[in-house]
Amino acid sequence: QAGTALLLLVAVVVAALPAPSLGWGVDGHLIICQIAQGRLSDAAAKAVNELLPSGAGGNLSSLCSWADRVRFRYHWSAPLHFIDVPDNVCSYSYDRDCKDEEGVKGRCVAGAINNYTSQLLTYGSSSLSPSSKSSDNLTEALLFLSHFMGDIHQPLHCGFASDRGGNTIDVHWYRRKTVLHHVWDVSIIQTAEKDYYDEGAGEFVDALNKNITGAWSDKVQEWEECAKNQTACPDKYGSESITAACDSAYKGVTEDSTLSDEYFGSRLPVVNLRLAQGGVRLAATLNRIFGQSKA
Ligand SMILES: *[C@@H]1O[C@H](CO)[C@@H](O)[C@H](O)[C@H]1NC(C)=O
Ligand SMILES: *[C@@H]1O[C@H](CO)[C@@H](O)[C@H](O)[C@H]1NC(C)=O
Ligand SMILES: *[C@@H]1O[C@H](CO)[C@@H](O)[C@H](O)[C@H]1NC(C)=O
Ligand SMILES: *[C@@H]1O[C@H](CO)[C@@H](O)[C@H](O)[C@H]1NC(C)=O
Ligand SMILES: *[C@@H]1O[C@H](CO)[C@@H](O)[C@H](O)[C@H]1NC(C)=O
Ligand SMILES: [Zn+2]
Repeated sequence: QAGTALLLLVAVVVAALPAPSLGWGVDGHLIICQIAQGRLSDAAAKAVNELLPSGAGGNLSSLCSWADRVRFRYHWSAPLHFIDVPDNVCSYSYDRDCKDEEGVKGRCVAGAINNYTSQLLTYGSSSLSPSSKSSDNLTEALLFLSHFMGDIHQPLHCGFASDRGGNTIDVHWYRRKTVLHHVWDVSIIQTAEKDYYDEGAGEFVDALNKNITGAWSDKVQEWEECAKNQTACPDKYGSESITAACDSAYKGVTEDSTLSDEYFGSRLPVVNLRLAQGGVRLAATLNRIFGQSKA
């Protein structure tokens, strides 16, 4: 009886706690995956279609928050959504920073992107191939990769260790109490949708796609490229994120800051850019993966 009461108490307390935020909100991930799906090569589109669960109707963006929904069931996956860098160090190094709280190397969002990229590279190869582990679930690999490519572009997913990427910094977003991390996962995007896009992620995607083919078109090739023939290059994106975290997300923010028009207006361009880069690079990575596979 006491056990049941305790369990109930724990359940109530857990339910009352704010959920730890582990990535762009649903709309941020949806926007990134929708941009990506529109840029897939025929080979990549075919592979993505085959790997998606039949219930998804071939729509990748409907499942780009799947990794957040399984974070309790797959407890081991929680450290794979972010990178912590030492406090006030505005740079990222894989060897120094890509580890979980127990110090296990490679257990961060950059390591996870490399992990699921190499799993997906076995797609289409015969099961006799020594590199293909039949235990890899390539549907899950696709959903994890698509989610983590988004997360690594959220500046505060490569943030300082002691404030957990802004999760412990209390702020007001206009009049509402929240934490800085949540402002970047959700609030800036939601306010943009409300102010500019008739509440819809679809119009936000259209506006970003217009700039990808317009104002940013001369930069897109550079966004897509990886050095040294790599299939995926998450370290570059992590370095950009901590730079944006220092120059933009954390800048001028202290405990109990009120963030409103000035912060929104100056930071929205950063969010726009990171969403666009996330989408373009997810597509480029999937195109490299499935272009190389022996289908
Ligand atoms: C894909 O799913 C998302 C989220 O459920 C939805 O907003 C979008 O309209 C869908 N796209 C297509 C082409 O059905
Ligand atoms: C790699 O993927 C496997 C299968 O999902 C998982 O068990 C493992 O924890 C992953 N490791 C990293 C660093 O992503
Ligand atoms: C692969 O993962 C998906 C999503 O978790 C699951 O529905 C499916 O049953 C898994 N496939 C296998 C063969 O385990
Ligand atoms: C698109 O680019 C224009 C010109 O640089 C800019 O004013 C606008 O805010 C951008 N829109 C998005 C959604 O990035
Ligand atoms: C990149 O890979 C291609 C094909 O595998 C190879 O021909 C080329 O030499 C490589 N380039 C570099 C710089 O490694
Ligand atoms: Zn996440």
